[in-house]
Amino acid sequence: MGNFFPRWSNWLPLKLAIAVVFIAFGVSVGVAYYFTPKYTRVGYEPTQPVPFSHQIHAGQLALDCRYCHSFAENSGHSNVPTNQTCFNCHGQGKGGIRAASPKLELVQKANESGQSIPWVKVHKAPDYVYFNHSAHLNRGISCVSCHGKINEMEVVRHDQPQSMGWCLDCHREPEKNLRPLEFVTNLNYKAGDLKRADFYQGLLDKKVAAKDIANVIGGEGAKADDLGQLIALAEKTYGKEVTQTEVGTQLKKHWQIQPPESCTACHR
Ligand code: HEC
Ligand code: HEC
Ligand code: HEC
Ligand code: HEC
Ligand code: HEC
Repeated sequence: MGNFFPRWSNWLPLKLAIAVVFIAFGVSVGVAYYFTPKYTRVGYEPTQPVPFSHQIHAGQLALDCRYCHSFAENSGHSNVPTNQTCFNCHGQGKGGIRAASPKLELVQKANESGQSIPWVKVHKAPDYVYFNHSAHLNRGISCVSCHGKINEMEVVRHDQPQSMGWCLDCHREPEKNLRPLEFVTNLNYKAGDLKRADFYQGLLDKKVAAKDIANVIGGEGAKADDLGQLIALAEKTYGKEVTQTEVGTQLKKHWQIQPPESCTACHR
């Protein structure tokens, strides 16, 4: 009797096993992509030990985020401020703002005992994820893209899913979020508030050639020699108001923004 099964079938179990492994892996990546806490995490708003309001401090008083979160810009991790930062304004004695308020009792106590206030953490990336604040802030991504309008929040709430799919959505299209560096902690910034002349002059000042700017606005072959022609071209392409696409695509091109999409960039 001849061999009933053709030769290649000897490999079938192995192929099946490999396929199963791949499918399982694919499913778990798919699950990671689509189903991670998106739904349970957004809106998480724990009660804090002191009723500290960003709406008052970062909104009304317009303190820059970095006054308190001083590490965000220069290091991987952002930080929550120490009592001393609060004491700059709320210290006891003359001139201490609301020093005797019951709402600040815990701050006063913490300062006497030298212990820190047990703030409840709101955002937390899993340990197997590598995330770095300064790598984002110094490349023109604002706090608001990842934390929402903190300056309007009485109590900090988890505003964005911060899931893998969410990270990747922006990494694929960073132009939707890029802005000039001076506006990174201005949570009310809108591209429409920019003056077109200032924006393009800024690029020219950085020695970007008018021709290269024109190519981003009008595609390969578009021409412009000076600021006036750039503005005319931009008005024709984007309309009267400066748009996010307009700003984002220029910054992406000329700052060479290339967010990583490979697994090892975020899982080291
Ligand atoms: C006067 C100091 C101060 C300023 C200014 C300030 N923050 Fe905060 N921030 C805090 C304190 C204290 C906490 C911890 C308590 C809480 O969550 O409210 C905090 C918490 C946060 C958290 C949540 C941290 C976590 O546990 O995940 C985020 C996000 C945040 N701040 C963003 C901002 C942004 C964005 C700005 C600027 C618009 C800003 N903060 C300005 C003091 C400040
Ligand atoms: C730059 C000055 C400044 C800093 C720094 C500052 N605050 Fe304030 N804080 C104020 C002002 C001004 C008010 C509003 C007072 C008012 O409504 O009359 C206020 C109000 C408050 C209130 C409400 C008090 C009440 O009785 O209604 C709390 C609680 C508070 N701050 C906590 C903090 C904590 C915690 C920190 C440190 C993380 C901090 N503040 C840092 C200026 C500051
Ligand atoms: C690209 C997205 C992104 C941007 C931009 C961003 N954050 Fe965050 N932030 C995160 C993520 C993700 C975490 C959780 C990180 C972790 O657990 O290591 C976080 C955590 C924090 C925390 C909590 C840190 C801790 O250890 O308790 C603070 C405070 C904070 N961010 C403040 C800010 C401020 C202020 C800005 C703007 C100056 C900012 N973030 C910009 C994504 C971002
Ligand atoms: C709103 C847009 C946006 C979001 C959301 C975002 N990123 Fe990024 N990411 C960027 C940009 C822009 C860069 C800078 C790329 C460059 O420098 O060319 C970057 C760079 C990085 C880098 C490479 C720089 C470094 O530190 O090694 C890592 C890693 C990274 N992001 C991880 C994450 C993770 C993890 C998340 C989700 C928790 C996340 N990012 C969410 C826009 C974003
Ligand atoms: C831009 C950053 C980024 C890149 C690139 C990335 N991941 Fe992730 N990954 C994350 C974050 C953030 C989480 C955590 C999600 C959460 O906590 O919601 C995660 C979670 C996971 C998980 C765990 C899911 C779970 O629910 O426990 C797996 C598995 C995973 N990633 C695999 C991969 C693979 C495979 C690749 C390459 C194809 C990849 N990741 C690329 C950011 C990234």
